Amino acid sequence: MNRKSGLVAAPLTTRGAEKESFAHDVVAGLSATPKRIAPKYFYDSDGSRLFEDITRTAEYYPTRSEHEILRMQAGAIVQHFPTGAALVEFGSGACIKVRFLLDAARKLKAYVPVDIAGEFLNAEAAALRKHYPNLVILPVVADFMEPFALPEAVADLPKIGFFPGSTIGNFEPHEAAAFLRHAGTILGKGAVMIVGVDLVKDEKVLNAAYNDAAGVTARFNLNLLRRINRELGGNFKLDGFEHHAFYNRERNRIEMHLASRARQKVTVAGSAFEFRAGETIHTENSYKYSPESFAALARGAGWKLLDRWTDAKGNFAVCALELA
Ligand code: AVJ
Repeated sequence: MNRKSGLVAAPLTTRGAEKESFAHDVVAGLSATPKRIAPKYFYDSDGSRLFEDITRTAEYYPTRSEHEILRMQAGAIVQHFPTGAALVEFGSGACIKVRFLLDAARKLKAYVPVDIAGEFLNAEAAALRKHYPNLVILPVVADFMEPFALPEAVADLPKIGFFPGSTIGNFEPHEAAAFLRHAGTILGKGAVMIVGVDLVKDEKVLNAAYNDAAGVTARFNLNLLRRINRELGGNFKLDGFEHHAFYNRERNRIEMHLASRARQKVTVAGSAFEFRAGETIHTENSYKYSPESFAALARGAGWKLLDRWTDAKGNFAVCALELA
């Protein structure tokens, strides 16, 4: 681990605070009408593994489509990178997709992966340093949704933001606009932003992607209840709920829910919650955009569409934006 970068694993107090906000958010979400829990809580270690398994199902096209674009178009994408720039990735995870860009961007000076999982981030950064010895790699442990400071060393470099995976689809459109605005503030004048966006398409394809035949997405959704039982002392019966995912045509989004199979009562963190038969917990929205609707959203957030690439089937888009 590189001590110079001043990175340490998240202290235990942070983890304690994280657990407290998880408990608070779950109790508040189950007290609301309709019941809901934010999708960020899917990703405990089992949930992260299940998401990786989803990306390997035949039906789940987004990851494969985005990889195809990054692989085929990396050369064209990095044409928009100013010389000597710093690439800032919002929520870098395992730093896999960025490799397509790092391989193609010979004149890039620095890579700044930003992620909340500190230990994991430092391990990934160390691996990347071996692979790209000429690149300055400066990980930042932060929640990228909150204001955070970029390392001093990149202050004077032009910035490129990278937000792949259609993670932006998990936000409500107004939140997506707020995020793009916030990213523009962090990156500063002259910034370019590369964003992965899942596109509106045939509903059969969309519905299948979130209802894979092997039931991996169902396990991913239900894992949330398993996590609540384990971490918050819940008593959800896993066979008392089922995975519901469907395309909401009016709102251009996939909705995921956990539907109660019967009337029942569940206790979480000392609070009791009643479920009617068929009542659901809304666990995720995954918004789909048209190239035009995404350009309009970006425009409203201060960004201008520079360029756009899609996969051969037109499933997914990688968009290059420029601060207007
Ligand atoms: C990681 C948010 C892009 O919305 O497609 C996959 C998450 N949920 N299957 C998506 C997810 C169910 C995924 N994102």
